[in-house]
Amino acid sequence: MEESMTPAQALAIAEETLDPANAAEWSAFRELAHRMVDEMVDYLSGLAEQPAWRPMPDEVRVAFKEPLPLKGAGHEAAYRDFRERVLPYPVGNLHPRFWGWVQGNGTPLGMMADMLASGINAHLAGFNQAPALVEHQVLEWLAEIMGMRGASGILVTGGSMANVLGVTVARHAALQQAGFDVRENGLQPGPDGSGPPRLMCYGSTETHSWARKAVELLGLGHRALRRIPVDAEYRMDVAALQRSVAADRAAGALPCCVIATAGTVNTGATDDLTAIADFCQREGIWMHVDGAFGAMVRLSESLRSQVRGIERADSLAFDLHKWGYLPFECACLLVRDAELHRSTFSNSASYLGETTRGVIAGGIPFADRGLDLTRGFKALKVWMSFKAHGVEVLGRLIEQNVHQAHYLAELIDAHPELELLAPVALNVVCFRFAPPGTAEESLNPLNQEILLRIQERGIAVPSGTVLQGRHAIRCANVNHRSRRSDFEALARSVVEIGNEILSESKKSD
Ligand SMILES: Cc1ncc(COP(=O)(O)O)c(C=O)c1O
Repeated sequence: MEESMTPAQALAIAEETLDPANAAEWSAFRELAHRMVDEMVDYLSGLAEQPAWRPMPDEVRVAFKEPLPLKGAGHEAAYRDFRERVLPYPVGNLHPRFWGWVQGNGTPLGMMADMLASGINAHLAGFNQAPALVEHQVLEWLAEIMGMRGASGILVTGGSMANVLGVTVARHAALQQAGFDVRENGLQPGPDGSGPPRLMCYGSTETHSWARKAVELLGLGHRALRRIPVDAEYRMDVAALQRSVAADRAAGALPCCVIATAGTVNTGATDDLTAIADFCQREGIWMHVDGAFGAMVRLSESLRSQVRGIERADSLAFDLHKWGYLPFECACLLVRDAELHRSTFSNSASYLGETTRGVIAGGIPFADRGLDLTRGFKALKVWMSFKAHGVEVLGRLIEQNVHQAHYLAELIDAHPELELLAPVALNVVCFRFAPPGTAEESLNPLNQEILLRIQERGIAVPSGTVLQGRHAIRCANVNHRSRRSDFEALARSVVEIGNEILSESKKSD
């Protein structure tokens, strides 16, 4: 500050903003922004010509270690770094031949909706303005799709978060019914000295790993998660569930919830949701369904019966960024009893008090249905996508993915050197290269190597899993860009690379 200046004068000179400073800067920004859009559209429209994945050279990898930028290099320079160093080296999940884990592709419209959402940067704790009305509408639509009209809902980052929140409501409900206030006492004894009952959760051995995080986070501990065995089709053995619940009750424990799965991560199996719903109803136990991808099958008339019973869930978690084809992140939790949902999370703070008029009229209902206070406008991409595409096409795409999975299974069945390792219930295909006469103990390392070469050569991206000790190449197809020819290329490459590895090892013997 110059000596002759008053503090107010100095402040006036120093005032800054992160917006472009004047008309010329706005115009340069507009030009850059248009270029960004053009180049991303080029990128999306040319995906099929790119390798499915490209390993990152070491020199690019090390270049990410940079000192904290104290002075900005400008928009152009930051974007150039993105184009040169980030854009060429993604995970690959947009590619037509990506079927690894259960990721998702996203859509061009979803990308633009995310830009618009970020542009208006709405705060979705609630605030009953247009963005909140969009989210309320989206939640109503999703509840209608799932056969859970009237349920309370919340959009969250992903299936893991949606599931954890669902089990949190289940814990609250079970303990409330038992006359114990978990919100006030946690899992410690209350003022009268009486502690909470020991709670138990039940999921199959195929339940996704979020469930372990949930029981740990909720203070129940890993031992509170009963792993119920599965049948030959990887579905929860309901008789074993009944026995486990009965034994726990006899030992004085309180069943908190049954976690059923619609579309297991390993094989795509769906538990017998109707039998589990009947059991839960008889026993008065909360039924939570993890429908991360499987729940969206409700959109297909011909496949809907596979998830029959899902509509009877007390809580249901599912992703929109998997089989809803939307960009990350977006998932939904639905809870049938809206009051229980609210009373699990609601909070009051003087600085968030609802008024009858003004900006916070209508309160912050979304903050009262989960953990986040500040929430972005995920609902916009769902709203715009449903409006633009209609949900019927989503149902048809889901059917297309299931047909493609069965087509791949047929190719595997028809090939003497390929072996299917699990029944194909929906969209997940687990198989391996197993030429007759190859020693069983060599098949796991062989198939691991095939998988890595297929990825590293950019041919395709399946992932791996282990089923009954056997290493499987696993395709989880939630890809709206895949074509039958992509699966033919995968099956062909597995055989070619498998034989290539076998002949290499023969030469080295
Ligand atoms: C059955 C199942 N549940 C939960 C999840 C976790 O979902 P997210 O990755 O969106 O957190 C997945 C992810 O693949 C899944 O397949």
